[in-house]
Amino acid sequence: MARCVMARCVSRVDAEVLARAVQTSLGYVPPLALPMLAERTGLEAGILLAKLQAAEDIRLEPECKQRIEICSGRTCAGRGGAKLIRLARRLLGVGMFQTTSGQKIRLEPFRCFGQCARAPNIRMNGVIQGAMTEKRFELLLGVLGRTKP
Ligand code: FES
Repeated sequence: MARCVMARCVSRVDAEVLARAVQTSLGYVPPLALPMLAERTGLEAGILLAKLQAAEDIRLEPECKQRIEICSGRTCAGRGGAKLIRLARRLLGVGMFQTTSGQKIRLEPFRCFGQCARAPNIRMNGVIQGAMTEKRFELLLGVLGRTKP
């Protein structure tokens, strides 16, 4: 997604301009976009990161209370991860890289947490939860949806 956004921008533009374009599309500048930004701008990764951290309007973290990432890797997808993605989109009423109203829950895909043996996996606020079933996930989303913002 970030690569598509940057491809639409003219070649070799300012890092902050590219980062803002990614942020407009995804809501923030994810860590995976940083190497692409560095490549496009010709900046060293450390210099690029410092430049983006100094820009007050650029977010390097999503703006949300709860962040749910669902593994979209091949093993997880084949063992029910694809169903978890559809379930989350239906129950939350948002798509991937989107946040529910009130910035409560953000939904994101992730390609392989390296925990394939426990597929399908989700990661909630940085904590991986394996062997996720639709029923458990539905309960989890229900609890999160009821928490106060
Ligand atoms: S495919 Fe999901 S953790 Fe590897």
